[in-house]
Amino acid sequence: MTKILVTGANGQLGQSIRSVYSEYNNFEIVFTDVEELDICNLQQLIEFTKKTNIDYLINCAAYTAVDKAEHEQVMARKLNADAVKNIGIAANENNFKVIHVSTDYVFDGKTYKPYPENALAVPESFYGQTKLLGEKYLMETQPESIIIRTAWLYSEFGNNFVKTMIKLGVEKDELGIVADQVGSPTYAVDLANAILTIISKVQNDTKAFIPGIYHYSNEGVCSWYDFTIRIHQTMRISCKIVPIESKDYPTAAPRPFYSVLNKGKIKTNYKLNIPHWGASLEKCLTILKENPLTNR
Ligand SMILES: NC(=O)c1ccc[n+]([C@@H]2O[C@H](COP(=O)([O-])OP(=O)(O)OC[C@H]3O[C@@H](n4cnc5c(N)ncnc54)[C@H](OP(=O)(O)O)[C@@H]3O)[C@@H](O)[C@H]2O)c1
Repeated sequence: MTKILVTGANGQLGQSIRSVYSEYNNFEIVFTDVEELDICNLQQLIEFTKKTNIDYLINCAAYTAVDKAEHEQVMARKLNADAVKNIGIAANENNFKVIHVSTDYVFDGKTYKPYPENALAVPESFYGQTKLLGEKYLMETQPESIIIRTAWLYSEFGNNFVKTMIKLGVEKDELGIVADQVGSPTYAVDLANAILTIISKVQNDTKAFIPGIYHYSNEGVCSWYDFTIRIHQTMRISCKIVPIESKDYPTAAPRPFYSVLNKGKIKTNYKLNIPHWGASLEKCLTILKENPLTNR
């Protein structure tokens, strides 16, 4: 039996792992969020991971309010960087492996070619800077870790772009949506399955755990405008969607214009079949159609 601890388990990715883990054999998973285990508290982390005697820690905890992070810098850095160092220290002390999640926002989005893992990371937002620092701290404290950068995460759980567009589309007659930023939406349930697949491959062959940075998003590319059109078409929402430029939708934190991740490394090392964003969006919207008030 492989014992796994999930931190930040009430967030979208954590809840997505909860929704699929029973499909995997021989996993015992302990789900915690800040009430049970505060990753900012090093002593608590060391004691908790010693007591539970885990093989893996999947860190889903993060400060994810990208615009607010520009003002709440102390909090964002504490959670996205310092706490990740705590996880690395605890992993060394109690001998478990870490799978940590990071972001496409470590890139400035000025290169119009899918970013490989070793591309120069120059984050423009404070959120991106804290996530990059977290990656660095983890690799310094526990280099035998896996870091998965993902992008444009959504799911039936929590708050995210898909649910916001459904809500606004129902409420408004017209919406202006940014059409000059492109990326790859990622269904958090697909990422959850990718993470659990990696661990299950390592169950059968310990050498399969290959530390380092990986990129994972759904296949395909779109703009926020394209993404919204597809969401509304599928949900049969008749709001007019107008393409706008980023300069017409100012945000506190700058966003990369191009944040497509090259996923070659994770596909090769773990033989993952990654679904296209359109197919995964359909799955998520089917769940939301059946249960429109889902905000679990
Ligand atoms: N969302 C995106 O579009 C996106 C894109 C790229 C990468 N990512 C990355 O993907 C990962 C998962 O994102 P997500 O959207 O699932 O995040 P999320 O929904 O914001 O979940 C984060 C969870 O961490 C919890 N948390 C906060 N402080 C904590 C602490 N001190 N100790 C333990 N848990 C704590 C939060 O609780 P509270 O809610 O009570 O604060 C929340 O339940 C993150 O690393 C994020 O940076 C996300």
